[in-house]
Amino acid sequence: MKGIVFNLLEEVVTADLGADAWFELVEASAVSGVYTSVGSYPDEDLYKLVEVASQGLGLSPDEILRDFGRKAMPLLAARYGALFSGHEHSRSFILSVNDIIHPEVRKLYSGAACPHFHFQQGANGRLMVGYRSPRNLCQLAHGFVHGAADHFGNEVEITHDLCMKDGDPICRMALEWSR
Ligand code: HEM
Repeated sequence: MKGIVFNLLEEVVTADLGADAWFELVEASAVSGVYTSVGSYPDEDLYKLVEVASQGLGLSPDEILRDFGRKAMPLLAARYGALFSGHEHSRSFILSVNDIIHPEVRKLYSGAACPHFHFQQGANGRLMVGYRSPRNLCQLAHGFVHGAADHFGNEVEITHDLCMKDGDPICRMALEWSR
């Protein structure tokens, strides 16, 4: 996992709970805690940080990942405004993830292992989002979608109807916008 992800997590934890909370989390997770944005670090560090945060805050790891993803989006918007500015709605922004956003990310962060999403139009304007990754981070994607909706002033309902963590071959989310 690229260091930028850990940098974002540090920023979110620090903004919510203070700098000490980040240092305590790093210590309790027994991870190095030193992450440069372009460096690559073990995925296990992220899982460990999420697990320990979940125990400390009494939330599930899924809730931690969703919250992190949602709160990371404004930080991404501040860093990569150009990726947002061509869009008026989070739907088209999300639809640009395979062809524009993540390819740009791969240019900036060599070796980034960004997931590929499978998009399909569903009934009543819904967008079906298929995801498969050995990292099993569909809840992070969920948080990013929520954060993107916040950014564009939209409201979206996200339902996971398939999940690799339940033994399904892929994860699939249905996104339904009311605004
Ligand atoms: C400006 C917007 C975005 C930026 C800059 C960005 C950047 C990144 C970066 C740097 C990684 C880490 C790759 C690695 O460490 O190897 C990543 C992974 C990921 N991204 Fe994005 N991303 C953006 C938008 C999105 C959106 C809209 C979604 C969901 C629809 C998404 C879903 C994910 C997921 C789930 C991962 C975790 C890796 C995995 O599942 O294998 N990203 N992204």
